[in-house]
Amino acid sequence: AETRDAKGPDVSVEDAGFPQVRPRRLRSSAAMRELVAEYRVRPADLVLPVFAREGIDRPVPVSSMPGVVQHTPDSLRRAAAEAAEAGVRGIMLFGVPEHKDAVGSAGTDPDGVLQRAIRDVRSETGDTLVIMSDLCLDEFTDHGHCGVLDERGAVDNDATLARYAEMALVQAEAGADVLGPSGMMDGQVGHVRRALDAAGRTDVAMLAYTAKYASAFYGPFREAVNSSLTGDRKSYQQDPANGREALRELELDLAEGADMVMVKPGMPYLDVLRRVADAVTVPVAAYQISGEYAMVEAAAEKGWIERERAIDETLLCFKRAGADLVLTYWATEAARRLGR
Ligand code: PBG
Repeated sequence: AETRDAKGPDVSVEDAGFPQVRPRRLRSSAAMRELVAEYRVRPADLVLPVFAREGIDRPVPVSSMPGVVQHTPDSLRRAAAEAAEAGVRGIMLFGVPEHKDAVGSAGTDPDGVLQRAIRDVRSETGDTLVIMSDLCLDEFTDHGHCGVLDERGAVDNDATLARYAEMALVQAEAGADVLGPSGMMDGQVGHVRRALDAAGRTDVAMLAYTAKYASAFYGPFREAVNSSLTGDRKSYQQDPANGREALRELELDLAEGADMVMVKPGMPYLDVLRRVADAVTVPVAAYQISGEYAMVEAAAEKGWIERERAIDETLLCFKRAGADLVLTYWATEAARRLGR
């Protein structure tokens, strides 16, 4: 305590406790910081999630996600082309059908909105974008659950798997490169893999939603897909109280043939992302979801945070936590900025 306050010339640096090791030297200029940066986000790491809505003649803004719209076929093509042009390498398609029913029939209609979106994006962007499609029933069911219900109104796991298999085949037929099973049904990856393989579609890859939590942050997505869900998804999505359980889901997905694995939501689950990334040799994705997007946009609109800095920081955090790919509604904007 004595030497800490002493500042005279006769006090040695060591006695005074002045540091000989100074990490700040490597933070001294923008060039220096870039030189020693451990992580970078590349445009090619980003995947743009988009909503294709049936039966509209102009894009419909999603009010809880400023800047995000439900697309018409034309605006979808434009968004896909712009993403590809900016260097984004993936697009994740969600379909919003005009008619929903108990079993999500529109999801298995070869001419359904999602299948048409896959074809439209393919014809617009060729092979420049990896086309991923959401493999789940909630956008297509009138009750809004990710599966079909049994007579007591509970989500029927195995009956749902049969529907996923049918969906997988029509999505593959439409030309999807990667299917994203996101319903958190037990055995979904293996069941869909077997159905694809049996149909000769060994070429279609799967990005498994491995650790998908029952999150309040999905709120704005419900508006984006016109969801009519009442209640919650806690009987199939993971409990936010659990971390280790993600590794159990991971083991299963890998054993069932997942080509890539994903953690979702993103920012509140960076610990889970790190644990998953440390445990695998397959590519790992993080999904920065609708509520994360909405929070940043809302705070920025109020002038409470610097919008672009905040966005770029969140993307970097996913890389630092071990993500190879990041699904983000800011993909095109961020890619343009990164490409500069
Ligand atoms: C299910 C699905 C959801 C999201 C992606 N796939 C909704 C949910 O699980 O409730 C949410 C994505 C987001 O919030 O941005 N098909």
